[in-house]
Amino acid sequence: MRLPARGRAAGKVILLGEHAVVYGRPALAAGLGMGLTVELAPAAGPARLESDRPELADDPRPQMLLAEAAAALDLPARDFVARVRSELPAGAGFGSSAALAVALVRALGAAAGRPLDAPAELALGRRLETVFHGHPSGIDPAAAALGTCFRFVRGEPPIVTPLRPRAPVPLAIAFSGCPRSTGAAVGALRGRWEREPDRYEALFDGIAATVEAGREALVAGDHAALGAAFDRNQALLEAIGVSSAEVEELARVARRAGALGAKLTGGGAGGAVIALAPDTERVAAALRAHGARTVVARLEWMREETA
Ligand code: MEV
Repeated sequence: MRLPARGRAAGKVILLGEHAVVYGRPALAAGLGMGLTVELAPAAGPARLESDRPELADDPRPQMLLAEAAAALDLPARDFVARVRSELPAGAGFGSSAALAVALVRALGAAAGRPLDAPAELALGRRLETVFHGHPSGIDPAAAALGTCFRFVRGEPPIVTPLRPRAPVPLAIAFSGCPRSTGAAVGALRGRWEREPDRYEALFDGIAATVEAGREALVAGDHAALGAAFDRNQALLEAIGVSSAEVEELARVARRAGALGAKLTGGGAGGAVIALAPDTERVAAALRAHGARTVVARLEWMREETA
């Protein structure tokens, strides 16, 4: 193994289509500038993972991920330590588990002297992400690997279409600080869908329509139309039962402070809210005054430096 070695992957934000994407509908997402880095260094004994985030250090699953990733790359799971440095708050909808999977694959590929090509990297990132979530669509590892805006449809392999926003998309992102489980939200929705498939399929079709309207608005630089797509998608997310009073309230605060649209992002149920806001600082300040933590982002056409 060639040590030290390093891998980095982006955090993600889902713009439109979360949850329905698990049921084959399209979604729009983007990689963020903030992300997660894995450094591999020599250390005697079984391979171990050390993290600057206590919630990752105390969780046995990253250790399983490390063993699986090493096996997939034909590397011995010993005599190195993987040090994780994350800029992503865990459990807030920023895709930290997928970013960890992709950054590990990249670090181990560098250590093996054979970095994987993009499709192989994505396939392995998706397989590893299942250590965290039962049946993910694969959109999170795609964002972690791509680091830019894209349209996504799940499949074997998924269809990933990079999108070039005509104008940078200014987002205020708020998260409440109470972590929630994407796996639990996805599982509860599956139960409701099994009981009333026709009703939920129709709602998923409605979400797909907001995704396509949002995609057109993004590439045309029409932020008013993109914001309207956010609001329609949020109403449908509420209808499928993945929103929460807290998310609704944060979305209302953002709209009152001038956002063109606001919705939950990711798994929902107490997670993060995105607001499309020409004046991101003003909207972020209103959200902070409401007790949320905030991040501002400008999504543009770029390929992140990822390795
Ligand atoms: C989680 O970031 C997005 C969900 O749609 C789940 C998935 O696609 O795997 C809720």
